[in-house]
Amino acid sequence: MESHFSRVFFFLLTISFTIMVDSHHTEAIEYTVGDSDRWSTGINYLEWSQKYNFTVGDILVFKYVLSQHNVYQVTETTFRSCDMTSGIISIHLSGNDRIELKEPTKYWFICTTKGHCKGGMRFGITVAESNHGEEEAPPSDYTTSTSSGDSSQ
Ligand SMILES: *[C@@H]1O[C@H](CO)[C@@H](O)[C@H](O)[C@H]1NC(C)=O
Repeated sequence: MESHFSRVFFFLLTISFTIMVDSHHTEAIEYTVGDSDRWSTGINYLEWSQKYNFTVGDILVFKYVLSQHNVYQVTETTFRSCDMTSGIISIHLSGNDRIELKEPTKYWFICTTKGHCKGGMRFGITVAESNHGEEEAPPSDYTTSTSSGDSSQ
């Protein structure tokens, strides 16, 4: 009986959460890095990163075999050099890392396992400002028809 109650409760919770999420007019998109290839060696992440347009609020999910790989968010310099003695912004090691893209800026990610960064486990993306189009008031300028004159009554 208790499990039934909690199931109903969870169901209601899910509904209210769904409504909450839907009330945002820009929907965050979750991207699994590498798609079905996930985060691993031998994949062209430059190609992957160019497939999508990323927007503030979107989430990158890095899925990989724990302890074989990792995810370091780094500066562009470190991304290019693969020298991870400096320029590290954040470190993710869980094997299933969810990174929210919070700022409209460039993000750079590498794997610091020996040889993996130079081998291609790195990419950069540009995150665009979320679309505020709907929040802006429609242009309320009076349309003055100067040349055409008034055709109706
Ligand atoms: C990304 O944006 C560019 C430029 O606005 C557009 O041409 C392209 O189709 C977009 N790609 C995707 C996957 O939405």
